[in-house]
Amino acid sequence: MKENPIILKTPSEIDCLREANQIIAAILARLAETVEPGITTGELDKIASSMIKAAGAKPAFKGYRMSNKRPYPACICSSVNEQVVHGIPSSRVLKEGDIVGVDVGVIYKGFVGDAARTYAVGKISDGARRLLEVTEQSLYKAIDQAVPDARLQQISAAVQKHVEASGYSIVRDFVGHGVGRNMHEPPQIPNYTGVGWNPRLQVGMTLAIEPMVNEGSWRIKMLSDEWTAVTADGKLSAHFEHSIAITENGPEILSKL
Ligand code: MF3
Ligand code: CO
Repeated sequence: MKENPIILKTPSEIDCLREANQIIAAILARLAETVEPGITTGELDKIASSMIKAAGAKPAFKGYRMSNKRPYPACICSSVNEQVVHGIPSSRVLKEGDIVGVDVGVIYKGFVGDAARTYAVGKISDGARRLLEVTEQSLYKAIDQAVPDARLQQISAAVQKHVEASGYSIVRDFVGHGVGRNMHEPPQIPNYTGVGWNPRLQVGMTLAIEPMVNEGSWRIKMLSDEWTAVTADGKLSAHFEHSIAITENGPEILSKL
Protein backbone atom coordinates (compact mmCIF):
# COMPACT_ATOMS: atom_id res chain seq x y z
CA MET A 1 0.00 0.00 0.00
CA LYS A 2 1.32 3.41 -0.92
CA GLU A 3 1.32 5.85 1.97
CA ASN A 4 0.45 9.50 1.60
CA PRO A 5 3.42 11.75 2.24
CA ILE A 6 4.08 13.15 5.69
CA ILE A 7 3.48 16.92 5.62
CA LEU A 8 6.55 18.75 6.90
CA LYS A 9 5.92 22.04 8.71
CA THR A 10 7.85 25.28 8.50
CA PRO A 11 9.01 27.02 11.68
CA SER A 12 6.09 29.48 11.47
CA GLU A 13 3.60 26.62 11.05
CA ILE A 14 5.14 24.99 14.11
CA ASP A 15 4.65 28.30 15.96
CA CYS A 16 0.90 28.01 15.23
CA LEU A 17 0.83 24.38 16.36
CA ARG A 18 2.62 25.40 19.56
CA GLU A 19 0.04 28.10 20.24
CA ALA A 20 -2.82 25.65 19.67
CA ASN A 21 -1.23 23.11 21.97
CA GLN A 22 -0.47 25.69 24.66
CA ILE A 23 -4.22 26.35 24.91
CA ILE A 24 -4.68 22.64 25.55
CA ALA A 25 -1.84 22.52 28.07
CA ALA A 26 -3.53 25.31 30.03
CA ILE A 27 -6.85 23.46 29.97
CA LEU A 28 -5.28 20.19 31.11
CA ALA A 29 -3.49 22.04 33.93
CA ARG A 30 -6.74 23.66 35.04
CA LEU A 31 -8.56 20.33 34.95
CA ALA A 32 -5.82 18.79 37.10
CA GLU A 33 -6.89 21.19 39.85
CA THR A 34 -10.59 20.67 39.17
CA VAL A 35 -10.91 16.90 38.98
CA GLU A 36 -12.14 15.66 42.36
CA PRO A 37 -14.81 13.37 43.71
CA GLY A 38 -18.27 14.82 43.01
CA ILE A 39 -17.59 16.60 39.72
CA THR A 40 -19.23 15.32 36.54
CA THR A 41 -17.49 14.69 33.25
CA GLY A 42 -19.97 17.11 31.68
CA GLU A 43 -18.69 19.86 33.98
CA LEU A 44 -15.14 19.14 32.81
CA ASP A 45 -16.34 19.55 29.23
CA LYS A 46 -17.96 22.90 30.11
CA ILE A 47 -14.73 24.23 31.62
CA ALA A 48 -12.75 23.14 28.57
CA SER A 49 -15.36 24.60 26.23
CA SER A 50 -15.27 28.02 27.88
CA MET A 51 -11.46 28.10 27.99
CA ILE A 52 -11.30 27.19 24.28
CA LYS A 53 -13.70 30.01 23.48
CA ALA A 54 -11.86 32.51 25.70
CA ALA A 55 -8.62 31.68 23.88
CA GLY A 56 -10.22 32.47 20.51
CA ALA A 57 -9.94 28.83 19.41
CA LYS A 58 -12.46 26.23 18.26
CA PRO A 59 -12.98 22.72 19.58
CA ALA A 60 -11.45 20.18 17.17
CA PHE A 61 -13.48 17.19 18.36
CA LYS A 62 -17.00 18.65 18.34
CA GLY A 63 -18.71 17.57 15.15
CA TYR A 64 -15.69 15.50 14.10
CA ARG A 65 -16.59 12.57 11.89
CA MET A 66 -14.65 9.35 12.15
CA SER A 67 -15.53 6.47 9.78
CA ASN A 68 -19.31 6.17 9.74
CA LYS A 69 -19.95 7.06 13.38
CA ARG A 70 -22.23 9.92 14.32
CA PRO A 71 -20.36 13.25 14.70
CA TYR A 72 -18.54 13.50 18.04
CA PRO A 73 -20.78 15.55 20.38
CA ALA A 74 -18.40 17.29 22.83
CA CYS A 75 -15.21 19.35 23.24
CA ILE A 76 -13.32 16.75 25.25
CA CYS A 77 -13.23 13.00 25.56
CA SER A 78 -13.56 11.80 29.17
CA SER A 79 -12.85 8.11 29.65
CA VAL A 80 -13.43 6.68 33.13
CA ASN A 81 -11.76 3.51 34.51
CA GLU A 82 -12.32 0.68 31.98
CA GLN A 83 -13.12 3.23 29.27
CA VAL A 84 -10.10 3.39 26.96
CA VAL A 85 -10.72 6.48 24.81
CA HIS A 86 -13.49 8.62 23.30
CA GLY A 87 -15.76 8.53 26.37
CA ILE A 88 -18.51 11.13 25.96
CA PRO A 89 -18.92 13.71 28.76
CA SER A 90 -22.19 13.30 30.64
CA SER A 91 -23.86 13.72 34.02
CA ARG A 92 -21.69 10.89 35.35
CA VAL A 93 -20.29 11.85 38.75
CA LEU A 94 -16.63 11.00 39.34
CA LYS A 95 -15.96 9.21 42.61
CA GLU A 96 -12.95 8.69 44.84
CA GLY A 97 -10.66 6.03 43.36
CA ASP A 98 -11.71 6.54 39.73
CA ILE A 99 -9.26 7.42 36.99
CA VAL A 100 -10.37 9.67 34.14
CA GLY A 101 -8.59 10.20 30.85
CA VAL A 102 -9.24 13.62 29.34
CA ASP A 103 -8.38 14.29 25.69
CA VAL A 104 -8.65 17.84 24.31
CA GLY A 105 -8.41 19.06 20.73
CA VAL A 106 -8.53 22.64 19.45
CA ILE A 107 -8.19 24.44 16.15
CA TYR A 108 -6.27 27.72 16.32
CA LYS A 109 -4.91 29.79 13.42
CA GLY A 110 -5.83 26.87 11.16
CA PHE A 111 -3.83 24.28 13.10
CA VAL A 112 -4.94 21.46 15.36
CA GLY A 113 -3.66 20.93 18.90
CA ASP A 114 -4.21 17.51 20.47
CA ALA A 115 -3.18 16.22 23.90
CA ALA A 116 -4.50 14.02 26.70
CA ARG A 117 -3.75 12.84 30.19
CA THR A 118 -5.29 10.59 32.78
CA TYR A 119 -6.10 11.96 36.23
CA ALA A 120 -6.55 10.32 39.58
CA VAL A 121 -9.85 11.19 41.26
CA GLY A 122 -8.98 11.65 44.93
CA LYS A 123 -7.00 8.75 46.37
CA ILE A 124 -6.59 5.82 43.98
CA SER A 125 -5.33 2.25 44.43
CA ASP A 126 -1.63 1.45 44.13
CA GLY A 127 -2.46 -0.60 41.04
CA ALA A 128 -4.18 2.32 39.32
CA ARG A 129 -1.34 4.66 40.31
CA ARG A 130 1.23 2.34 38.76
CA LEU A 131 -0.80 2.06 35.54
CA LEU A 132 -0.85 5.86 35.22
CA GLU A 133 2.88 6.11 35.92
CA VAL A 134 3.87 3.43 33.44
CA THR A 135 1.63 4.87 30.71
CA GLU A 136 3.00 8.40 31.15
CA GLN A 137 6.58 7.11 31.31
CA SER A 138 6.02 5.18 28.07
CA LEU A 139 4.95 8.43 26.39
CA TYR A 140 8.14 10.21 27.46
CA LYS A 141 10.30 7.27 26.39
CA ALA A 142 8.58 7.41 23.00
CA ILE A 143 9.14 11.17 22.69
CA ASP A 144 12.87 10.65 23.41
CA GLN A 145 13.05 8.59 20.20
CA ALA A 146 11.61 11.37 18.03
CA VAL A 147 14.90 12.68 16.64
CA PRO A 148 15.95 13.38 13.03
CA ASP A 149 17.07 10.26 11.13
CA ALA A 150 15.54 7.81 13.60
CA ARG A 151 12.79 5.50 12.34
CA LEU A 152 9.11 5.88 13.16
CA GLN A 153 8.88 2.44 14.72
CA GLN A 154 11.52 3.37 17.30
CA ILE A 155 8.74 5.46 18.84
CA SER A 156 6.40 2.48 18.80
CA ALA A 157 9.09 0.17 20.17
CA ALA A 158 9.85 2.44 23.11
CA VAL A 159 6.21 2.40 24.22
CA GLN A 160 5.83 -1.33 23.71
CA LYS A 161 9.01 -2.26 25.55
CA HIS A 162 8.21 -0.24 28.66
CA VAL A 163 4.54 -1.21 28.81
CA GLU A 164 5.03 -4.93 28.25
CA ALA A 165 8.02 -5.12 30.62
CA SER A 166 5.71 -3.61 33.25
CA GLY A 167 3.14 -6.37 32.71
CA TYR A 168 0.53 -4.30 30.89
CA SER A 169 -0.84 -4.51 27.36
CA ILE A 170 -1.08 -2.07 24.47
CA VAL A 171 -4.34 -1.14 22.80
CA ARG A 172 -4.06 -1.99 19.10
CA ASP A 173 -7.26 -0.52 17.72
CA PHE A 174 -6.17 3.11 18.09
CA VAL A 175 -2.89 4.77 17.16
CA GLY A 176 -1.07 8.08 17.31
CA HIS A 177 -0.82 10.21 14.19
CA GLY A 178 0.71 13.09 12.34
CA VAL A 179 -1.01 16.38 13.17
CA GLY A 180 -1.17 19.75 11.46
CA ARG A 181 -3.94 21.54 9.58
CA ASN A 182 -5.82 18.27 10.02
CA MET A 183 -6.15 16.31 13.24
CA HIS A 184 -5.21 13.04 11.59
CA GLU A 185 -2.38 13.25 9.06
CA PRO A 186 0.08 10.57 8.01
CA PRO A 187 1.84 8.71 9.49
CA GLN A 188 -0.16 6.48 11.79
CA ILE A 189 1.87 5.80 14.92
CA PRO A 190 1.00 2.42 16.46
CA ASN A 191 2.19 1.83 20.01
CA TYR A 192 3.58 -1.56 18.98
CA THR A 193 6.02 -2.55 16.24
CA GLY A 194 5.97 -4.77 13.20
CA VAL A 195 3.06 -3.23 11.34
CA GLY A 196 2.90 -0.73 8.54
CA TRP A 197 5.28 1.88 7.47
CA ASN A 198 8.65 2.69 9.02
CA PRO A 199 9.78 6.01 7.52
CA ARG A 200 12.78 7.97 8.67
CA LEU A 201 11.93 10.90 10.94
CA GLN A 202 12.79 14.38 9.72
CA VAL A 203 12.97 17.94 11.00
CA GLY A 204 9.55 19.55 10.53
CA MET A 205 7.45 16.47 11.26
CA THR A 206 4.74 17.08 13.85
CA LEU A 207 3.31 14.06 15.62
CA ALA A 208 0.67 13.25 18.23
CA ILE A 209 2.01 10.33 20.24
CA GLU A 210 -0.61 8.65 22.39
CA PRO A 211 -0.10 5.36 24.22
CA MET A 212 -3.28 3.69 25.45
CA VAL A 213 -2.40 1.02 28.02
CA ASN A 214 -4.57 -1.70 29.54
CA GLU A 215 -4.09 -3.35 32.90
CA GLY A 216 -5.34 -6.69 31.49
CA SER A 217 -6.00 -7.79 27.93
CA TRP A 218 -5.38 -5.44 25.00
CA ARG A 219 -8.80 -6.28 23.61
CA ILE A 220 -11.46 -3.59 23.54
CA LYS A 221 -15.11 -3.35 22.66
CA MET A 222 -17.27 -0.44 21.60
CA LEU A 223 -20.30 0.80 23.51
CA SER A 224 -23.61 1.38 21.71
CA ASP A 225 -23.02 5.17 21.81
CA GLU A 226 -20.72 4.45 18.81
CA TRP A 227 -17.74 6.24 20.39
CA THR A 228 -16.74 4.93 23.80
CA ALA A 229 -14.12 2.18 23.67
CA VAL A 230 -13.92 0.01 26.81
CA THR A 231 -11.61 -2.82 27.81
CA ALA A 232 -13.11 -6.20 26.91
CA ASP A 233 -12.24 -7.58 30.37
CA GLY A 234 -13.48 -4.56 32.34
CA LYS A 235 -10.02 -3.80 33.78
CA LEU A 236 -8.54 -0.30 33.87
CA SER A 237 -7.05 1.61 30.93
CA ALA A 238 -4.95 4.80 30.79
CA HIS A 239 -4.09 7.29 28.03
CA PHE A 240 -1.50 10.08 27.75
CA GLU A 241 -0.86 12.13 24.62
CA HIS A 242 1.47 14.92 23.59
CA SER A 243 1.85 16.72 20.28
CA ILE A 244 5.52 17.18 19.39
CA ALA A 245 7.67 18.70 16.67
CA ILE A 246 10.93 17.17 15.48
CA THR A 247 13.67 19.81 15.45
CA GLU A 248 17.43 19.75 14.78
CA ASN A 249 17.85 19.59 18.53
CA GLY A 250 15.44 16.70 18.99
CA PRO A 251 11.81 16.59 20.05
CA GLU A 252 9.97 19.70 21.21
CA ILE A 253 6.84 18.96 23.23
CA LEU A 254 4.32 21.48 21.96
CA SER A 255 1.58 20.58 24.46
CA LYS A 256 3.66 21.04 27.60
CA LEU A 257 3.23 24.26 29.64
N1 MF3 B 1 -6.73 12.25 20.46
C1 MF3 B 1 -7.79 11.54 19.79
C2 MF3 B 1 -7.36 11.19 18.40
O1 MF3 B 1 -6.35 11.64 18.02
C3 MF3 B 1 -9.06 12.26 19.91
C4 MF3 B 1 -10.09 12.19 18.81
S1 MF3 B 1 -11.65 12.43 19.46
C5 MF3 B 1 -12.66 12.72 18.18
O2 MF3 B 1 -7.95 10.42 17.68
F1 MF3 B 1 -13.81 12.82 18.66
F2 MF3 B 1 -12.36 13.83 17.62
F3 MF3 B 1 -12.55 11.75 17.30
CO1 CO C 1 -4.68 12.27 18.99
